[in-house]
Amino acid sequence: MKIILYMTMTANGYIAKEDDETPWSDIVWESYCEFVKKRGNIVVGKRTYEIMKEANEFEKLGFPITVVVSDSTGDEGADKIFFVSSPKEAVAVMKEKGMDEMVVGGGSTLNTGFLEDGLLDEIYLDIEPRLFGKGIKLFSDTDVSVNLRLCEVAKLSKDVIRLHYRVLK
Ligand SMILES: NC(=O)c1ccc[n+]([C@@H]2O[C@H](COP(=O)([O-])OP(=O)(O)OC[C@H]3O[C@@H](n4cnc5c(N)ncnc54)[C@H](OP(=O)(O)O)[C@@H]3O)[C@@H](O)[C@H]2O)c1
Repeated sequence: MKIILYMTMTANGYIAKEDDETPWSDIVWESYCEFVKKRGNIVVGKRTYEIMKEANEFEKLGFPITVVVSDSTGDEGADKIFFVSSPKEAVAVMKEKGMDEMVVGGGSTLNTGFLEDGLLDEIYLDIEPRLFGKGIKLFSDTDVSVNLRLCEVAKLSKDVIRLHYRVLK
């Protein structure tokens, strides 16, 4: 199973403002929905799960199989929502569900867990034409560093590009 991190970020590497605002363009939201719908699943950290639930985003994503990584438990539902306590357990659930590709959907803390455990195979980054002075970074501080191979650069609009990388292991 291929494990894919998909994130939108500013040109200086922030995935949200300090107050969790994510003022992304329509094309980016549409691409994200299409990406997740195609794979039918997403793994998120507890904070992102709460934010997405509040904004009714799971409906917009077609109610994908959702795995929430958290040390606490939550409202598991209808064979679609699962709570686990580590990225490795999230991978196990997706494998059990027969997924060929699994989408890692943030936020920063979750992304870092997958990076530190060496679980990421590919990374897609939609780059918005914005800079935030402060905010939430693509990865939180970590000693891990990895090398990437650039697979593709796609232009989603006049101002937005998508970078597609393979993680070298
Ligand atoms: N731009 C984008 O594409 C994008 C996508 C997604 C999210 N975001 C933004 O990212 C921000 C949220 O990021 P965040 O870093 O604050 O929160 P997060 O990663 O969504 O959630 C953090 C929480 O998830 C649990 N968790 C995450 N990784 C874990 C691990 N390896 N092991 C155990 N538990 C783990 C912990 O919950 P417990 O405390 O319950 O144990 C932790 O407190 C929001 O502003 C959101 O809007 C942006």
